[in-house]
Amino acid sequence: MRICVIGAGYVGLVAAACFAEMGNRVICVERDPERLARLARGEAPIYEPGLEPMLKTHLNSGQLSFCRQLEQGTARAEVIFIAVGTPAGEDGSADLSHVLAVADELGERLEQACVVVDKSTVPVGTGERVAQRINSGLSRRGKGFRVVVASNPEFLKEGSAIADFMRPDRVIIGCDDEASALVLRRLYAPFLRNHERLLCMGLRAAEFTKYAANAFLATKISFINEMAGLCARLDVDIEQVRRGIGSDRRIGTHFIYAGCGYGGSCFPKDVRALIRTAEHEGIEPGILRAVEARNALQKTLLFQGLREHFGQHLQGRVVALWGLAFKPGTDDLREAPSLVLLDALLAAGASVQACDPVAIAAVSERYAQAVSGGQLRLSESPYAVAEGADALVLVTEWKQFRQPDFIRIRGAMRMPVLFDGRNIYDAKYLSELGFLYRGIGRPALGRCMVSAA
Ligand SMILES: NC(=O)c1ccc[n+]([C@@H]2O[C@H](COP(=O)([O-])OP(=O)(O)OC[C@H]3O[C@@H](n4cnc5c(N)ncnc54)[C@H](O)[C@@H]3O)[C@@H](O)[C@H]2O)c1
Repeated sequence: MRICVIGAGYVGLVAAACFAEMGNRVICVERDPERLARLARGEAPIYEPGLEPMLKTHLNSGQLSFCRQLEQGTARAEVIFIAVGTPAGEDGSADLSHVLAVADELGERLEQACVVVDKSTVPVGTGERVAQRINSGLSRRGKGFRVVVASNPEFLKEGSAIADFMRPDRVIIGCDDEASALVLRRLYAPFLRNHERLLCMGLRAAEFTKYAANAFLATKISFINEMAGLCARLDVDIEQVRRGIGSDRRIGTHFIYAGCGYGGSCFPKDVRALIRTAEHEGIEPGILRAVEARNALQKTLLFQGLREHFGQHLQGRVVALWGLAFKPGTDDLREAPSLVLLDALLAAGASVQACDPVAIAAVSERYAQAVSGGQLRLSESPYAVAEGADALVLVTEWKQFRQPDFIRIRGAMRMPVLFDGRNIYDAKYLSELGFLYRGIGRPALGRCMVSAA
């Protein structure tokens, strides 16, 4: 099939590469010239395991190409995917300006009937607005055809995006037109060969499903974090509780890890957007508000713990941070818990030595002043940042941080104090090595612990 994908971000680029992998001819339209130049050289502008080799292969074979002009990308396309960003607007609702601008441009430029698919996460009713804008542009230009707009929300996870796209848990197609739905069924058939995981539903239901899914996952995280806060007070280890409840199949083991909060480009903005939708409809979103409030609190716990430990004074302390990206496997910093901690530490006058396998460049750009002033030192080596530190804080649980040489680390640190923001370490083992260990919602093997208010 001839496919056009508009927007070469985490979603658009992965979708474009995976559609090309299945033998489709894909043109990806990207408006950012710097990003486009890198893509033309076969470089992935984002860190996503497995993406760059796929881009190179399909650029070379001609299955995949990139361009700046919309009309070049859409010419002869049978399916057009809109995969541009929908960040939070000032009031928290989804900012649809990029999506609607694409719709207007499609109305001005499209030359053939095709299926337009909204892959961006958008509030209920957006597909109808997009269709209305495109079709009124087409009729203004006297074109004798109309387009159908479908919704195909994306569920990939950054860090495993290629695998998720190639072998999806499910594909959701929201489309009120049978013939267009059939085109999308055909496009997705090679990704769903093992068993049928394609769910067809109404356009509005598909749009809502994406928000409901993210809100539910965020709720699981905030729920376990609230339980962790209680555990910390009651001298109970949340890790034991997690295993205890996760073994119940109705609860399951996923997304019930206590930690220093969720971040990323989806959960925070999607929960906020759903809150605004509910308010707009006159419904009190009590659960969603609590999820958001708990997460905001959770992101402050590591700093609170450090302040409690050092008696409020962090001026002149050296704090080592492991992991800056919002989760392992990505260089994405959007809404990362590390940023809340970094901001607080720098404002309190601490010196920070931070390490991340792939997000260093983005962090040094964001904190250019602190880096040039020497208050923030960045390195790819976890051992280098532990050197002379008064405390080590694990924020993002990259695999390389899971089993480090703790004896070497203890020797490098000025004080062997470890804050485990993801509860990945064996507290008993670390305390035997001489560390003062603080987890989230775990009894401290020392005197104080990180606890929720
Ligand atoms: N990142 C994720 O893990 C993820 C997962 C599921 C769904 N989503 C949703 O998918 C959508 C895209 O997310 P993302 O993380 O890929 O965004 P992104 O910000 O990484 O990428 C968007 C890209 O679109 C480009 N763009 C914007 N307007 C354009 C235009 N008019 N023409 C051409 N290019 C244009 C931008 O330059 C950028 O490269 C969002 O709605 C998001 O909520 C994201």
